[in-house]
Amino acid sequence: MAPSTSSVITLTVNGEKHTLPVDHRTTLLDALREHLDLTGTKKGCDQGQCGACTVLIDGRRAVSCLQLAVAAEGRAVTTIEGVAEGDRLHPVQQSFLDLDGYQCGYCTPGQICSAVAAIEEHAAGWPSAATADVRPEAGPPPLTDEEIRERMSGNLCRCGAYVSIVQAVARAAEEQADRAEEAAV
Ligand code: FES
Ligand code: FES
Repeated sequence: MAPSTSSVITLTVNGEKHTLPVDHRTTLLDALREHLDLTGTKKGCDQGQCGACTVLIDGRRAVSCLQLAVAAEGRAVTTIEGVAEGDRLHPVQQSFLDLDGYQCGYCTPGQICSAVAAIEEHAAGWPSAATADVRPEAGPPPLTDEEIRERMSGNLCRCGAYVSIVQAVARAAEEQADRAEEAAV
């Protein structure tokens, strides 16, 4: 008997469980867009090079075009539809709006998901290739434009909105830090 080429899987997306049949070759990107109608996640290159399809998996960013849907079972997937905090936009969404961090908007969902994780990675002290002092005791490096550009380098913008994107990420990181301080008081 030929092995089955499809399975019924349960994906947890933005806190909701979805049970769906998928061909084993279905990418997470196609499962989100074609099966769950979550079309906020965009398909650019479909080969891991542009970052348009970036989502968060267990809080870490991932290009969903290189992830099989079956491999995402049992993990928490967050898409652009799920990054807001209820009716309140995520600071990254708000700063992209306020500072025009986009032109056509096609890359924007991926940029925003990527920035959400990049800010958290930076706050947690993860170094990047642009970090001069990578010793753990040095703590998070200043979030300079160079750091932001390096940390966001997996997300391409064909409109070239990079200047505004960098400003938006910097503003969002400050806002996130302020919110964290408020929450700690
Ligand atoms: S569509 Fe996934 S990286 Fe381009
Ligand atoms: S805003 Fe158009 S591709 Fe980035």
